[in-house]
Amino acid sequence: MLAIRLIERKRDGGRIEPGEWRALLGAYVAGHVPEYQMAAFLMAAYLRGLDRDETAALTESMLRSGASLDLHGISAPRIDKHSTGGVGDKVSLVLAPLAAAVGIVVPMVSGRGLGHTGGTLDKLDAIPGFRSDLTLAQARAQLERIGCVLLGQSGEIAPVDRKLYALRDATATVESIPLIAASIMSKKLAEGLTGLVLDVKRGSGSFLQTLERGIELSQTMIALGAAHQCPVVALVTAMDRPLGRACGNALETEEAIHALRGEGPPDLMEVTYALAAEMMMLGALAPDRASARERLAGAIASGAAAEKFKEIIEAQGGNPAVVDDPALMPQAEAIELCRASRRGFVAQIEPRAVGRGIIALGGGRTTMEDTLDPGVGFVITAKPGDWVEAGEAIASVFARDEAGLRAGAAALREAIRIGDEAEPPLPLISHRVTQHGVAEVYDGV
Ligand code: URA
Repeated sequence: MLAIRLIERKRDGGRIEPGEWRALLGAYVAGHVPEYQMAAFLMAAYLRGLDRDETAALTESMLRSGASLDLHGISAPRIDKHSTGGVGDKVSLVLAPLAAAVGIVVPMVSGRGLGHTGGTLDKLDAIPGFRSDLTLAQARAQLERIGCVLLGQSGEIAPVDRKLYALRDATATVESIPLIAASIMSKKLAEGLTGLVLDVKRGSGSFLQTLERGIELSQTMIALGAAHQCPVVALVTAMDRPLGRACGNALETEEAIHALRGEGPPDLMEVTYALAAEMMMLGALAPDRASARERLAGAIASGAAAEKFKEIIEAQGGNPAVVDDPALMPQAEAIELCRASRRGFVAQIEPRAVGRGIIALGGGRTTMEDTLDPGVGFVITAKPGDWVEAGEAIASVFARDEAGLRAGAAALREAIRIGDEAEPPLPLISHRVTQHGVAEVYDGV
């Protein structure tokens, strides 16, 4: 296999055969294909696209580049959730223990934040002592014992994806539906799942901003799952404003803990319940949404979900006392209220500007090597459509120092627009995509 021939063929709109994908990725991971050739190939693939068979072959080659969790012998449904990424999206931290508390086995492999979006692993790192770098053998043992594990992508799972993702990030080739679908599904299929629920974000804060692209991505991942006997259901949810109120790592983990204790903001709870209900239905643990929702709400009300989060934290080396006392997590040194500059309707809270603000505060990354300050971020209490008076408190900035407070306040001024008219935000949950088609939804569950 000569990489240059494959680059030429893809550049000219040709197809790459399954054996050629295997050979190309194998040679790349072994260091025999240089980064510049792979970068050129990725750009050709980005511009020319991949057909369904090529996407399947790429996914298969990425999956086979590493090991998989062997969960045979675990009889409970094994179901995970994956989000395409956003700002304030702490759903995984609530949903994983909640789903485990109602009997689903949840092997969750998560990522770090990059660009304007946050990552579940960074939020978990705010918990003192928490370790997400378990081996697959340790992960399996934990799943058998307590039904949930929250993992980082180790060198064991789809190692070629790690290399390719870093290269895509540096070569402006991330936003390609086949490349995203193959990247996500190669990791998810390595989890040994019996089902997968996708939270496909749309709106200005998401990677794929339009509904059409979100649905196309969902359908591509549904087809990849079907080829591996892993049914996939996707919900399209809004990312034209942050989810919940907290944005920033420790602040989001704290909000997730409040949610597990029954005090979560309504939008966060609605998305979490909707996704968890889909997991229960996929696992045949509930006949319909209403009964799934009732059991999920019961697991929160009884304290079972919060208790499960404590078990997970303890099993992974963290301090479970944070669930009773979130102040044990790193705290910001400086806090300041942000007030409305005028009276009117909150017309927009732009998630990308909020995400960039977190980076400016030191709570997000511009390169994978950056270290984060977990305590910084925002709590934005206003929501699009709210009426506010001039001088009314609408958010708080959590920073390391005075300079951080100024940078945070500037980011919020850019992000929050107050106008004379309320501008209707996107519906929180707008579409449900399955193998059978696309349905408009539905006000929550
Ligand atoms: N998340 C992933 O894991 N891969 C992508 O390509 C995009 C988002």
